[in-house]
Amino acid sequence: MTTRMPLISVEDLTVTYGDRIGCNGVSFDLFPGEVLGIVGESGSGKSTLLNAVSGQLEPAVGQIHYRTRLNETADIYRMSEPERRFLMRTDWAFVHQNPRDGLRMGVSAGANIGERLMGVGWRHYGEIRSTALSWLGKVEIFEDRVDDPPTTFSGGMQQRLQIARNLVSGPRLVFMDEPTGGLDVSVQARLLDLLRGLVSDLGLSAIIVTHDLAVARLLSHRLMVMQGGEVVESGLTDQVLDDPQHPYTQLLVSSILQV
Ligand SMILES: Nc1ncnc2c1ncn2[C@@H]1O[C@H](COP(=O)(O)OP(=O)(O)OP(=O)(O)O)[C@@H](O)[C@H]1O
Ligand SMILES: [Mg+2]
Repeated sequence: MTTRMPLISVEDLTVTYGDRIGCNGVSFDLFPGEVLGIVGESGSGKSTLLNAVSGQLEPAVGQIHYRTRLNETADIYRMSEPERRFLMRTDWAFVHQNPRDGLRMGVSAGANIGERLMGVGWRHYGEIRSTALSWLGKVEIFEDRVDDPPTTFSGGMQQRLQIARNLVSGPRLVFMDEPTGGLDVSVQARLLDLLRGLVSDLGLSAIIVTHDLAVARLLSHRLMVMQGGEVVESGLTDQVLDDPQHPYTQLLVSSILQV
């Protein structure tokens, strides 16, 4: 049905913080069902780019066009604030590195999930409750924790809850900033498996920021490598990692191989 039109199209995006450049002249397309990884060292502009693309940080220059469910093109910084908020609630999801930034820590796990459903118009308590329970199961949290607040969860559980809260409302596009960042390695691996399964089962499009090339390899179809606010290399993930062209990418890849 959908032709190969980009879901989101980013053109010449530049973000500045005063006279410091956050990211500079970035362009890319993301197609439906595609997972794009953004890698690069600390301070290279990954979060800046993600925040700008996800409508949270207005760029100094550039445009972001998004193809809506109605198959219309919307410029996300030209639409009104309520329109953008509606889009963010219905079509987009943002998984933060720190679950505290993406969860409401004081309310129950069930309410954290249910709130998103109410945000897209669900009203029937029983349905909200049963959907919340089924999503807890999907992210491997025991159903008997449904009434507990995230403050009583481990870091890994909080992150899984954040993922459930974000995906339950059926977004088309998911932004993730270091989704496995604060977790230890064994927990990371399990979470990555889970994420990979959900993204492919739900046919989601996603943009994932990570400094971990193994995470990028596992989750993303395409990669963009950033250095000093600019994209220095991009391409299919395997190609970029197996045959890096830019010296900086070569350095990134070889520093991993030496570990
Ligand atoms: N709020 C801010 N105010 C001023 N400068 C900022 C701000 N946020 C980021 N920067 C600058 O923008 C550049 C890119 O930062 P950004 O946070 O996007 O990097 P990053 O690749 O996400 O790094 P990390 O891997 O450490 O999260 C850096 O030079 C940083 O100092
Ligand atoms: Mg960052």
